[in-house]
Amino acid sequence: MADAAIQQKHFLSDKVAHFTESVIREMTRQAMLYNAVNLAQGFPDFPAPREIKEAAQEAIAGDVNQYAITWGAKNLRQAIARQMQVWQGILVDPETDVTVCCGSTEAMISTLLAVCNAGDEVVILEPFYENYGPDSILSGARPRFVKLRPPSTSDSEWIFDERELRAAFHNHTKAIILNTPNNPTGKVFTRSELELIRDLCVEFNVLAITDEIYEHILYDNAKHISIASLDGMRDRTVTINGLSKSYSVTGWRVGWTVAAPNITSAIRKVHDFLTVGAPAPLQEAGAAALGMPSEYYQKLAEGYRARRDRLIPALLKAGFRCFPPRGAYYVMTDIKAFGFADDVAFTRYLVQEIGVAAVPGSSFYNDPRDGAQQVRFAFCKRDETLDEAARRLGKLRSKT
Ligand SMILES: Cc1ncc(COP(=O)(O)O)c(C=O)c1O
Repeated sequence: MADAAIQQKHFLSDKVAHFTESVIREMTRQAMLYNAVNLAQGFPDFPAPREIKEAAQEAIAGDVNQYAITWGAKNLRQAIARQMQVWQGILVDPETDVTVCCGSTEAMISTLLAVCNAGDEVVILEPFYENYGPDSILSGARPRFVKLRPPSTSDSEWIFDERELRAAFHNHTKAIILNTPNNPTGKVFTRSELELIRDLCVEFNVLAITDEIYEHILYDNAKHISIASLDGMRDRTVTINGLSKSYSVTGWRVGWTVAAPNITSAIRKVHDFLTVGAPAPLQEAGAAALGMPSEYYQKLAEGYRARRDRLIPALLKAGFRCFPPRGAYYVMTDIKAFGFADDVAFTRYLVQEIGVAAVPGSSFYNDPRDGAQQVRFAFCKRDETLDEAARRLGKLRSKT
């Protein structure tokens, strides 16, 4: 028996020994199994914009079907550079600063593999999007977590403690991973918070890797600021973004990095050996997507605001405490009122008995106990889907 265990381990990497399967993706499978309303994984259940789909169809019909340039089709890189300038005032050279990847997921792992050495540390604010921890480990770095504390009142924000953040920086720190607007909290980092992070990055010679995939999904006049636009950050930031959320095409797998030429050159090498390139026709459609008029983005944000304001009252009525998001399309909730031992037991009950899938809060924390009384709901869904979830959640009984 012992021999069999040793033999089994022999074929596996130590790196993956502590990884669990993605809880978010697992919840989607559970939703299908129990025929539950899926408010777990963050993908829209409504159609992608017609213009963008047509651009993809035309690209395929026009035979854009072979490998694109490995670091991205020229058209798309030019569109990305143009939009970075229009939206954030950041000058980008599409020839030297942009790498198109298979989703921002690949952009993040390619970046970390390109910049990390064994023994480096990567600072991650938690709760965090669940890929960041494993990504850091795969790249040989050690993640170091700093807490965002939940709002104490309905109009306050998730905040970090400046001293705790400073204490996480030292001479082995290679990078900090930021995500604004944030999944799962909905926090949109303010200019003064970003300036504080900038000052630490400069003082400790640290890179900011910033995942801005929800940049257009903002509420209540929140403003998205790219940390790369702050003085001193242009050459020490890798900005990551993609088509998935802004254009409702999470299955297309197109994302990108924007960084200084020396960092871009390293990312491009990793990207080339990992995936060669992102889907060529969908990159052409991406160039069309980035050319959408400004009303498109206003409607996108307004649509999600309406969905947020449809789901939250239903959650409150069912007994959840909600932390209303200022951006992205999730709401983190506190489940103490239901008296469950932990978030995993609660989400299991929710999917099997109530018929709604959500994500246990612990999957966003390094120490599962920190998220044991939190659950995340995604509201990137049609009104009918949200209404059906609300109807089912009405069956829940809080113990208070
Ligand atoms: C913060 C964040 N980053 C990245 C991703 C994945 O993006 P992509 O589809 O571009 O790989 C998600 C998806 O939910 C996300 O929430």
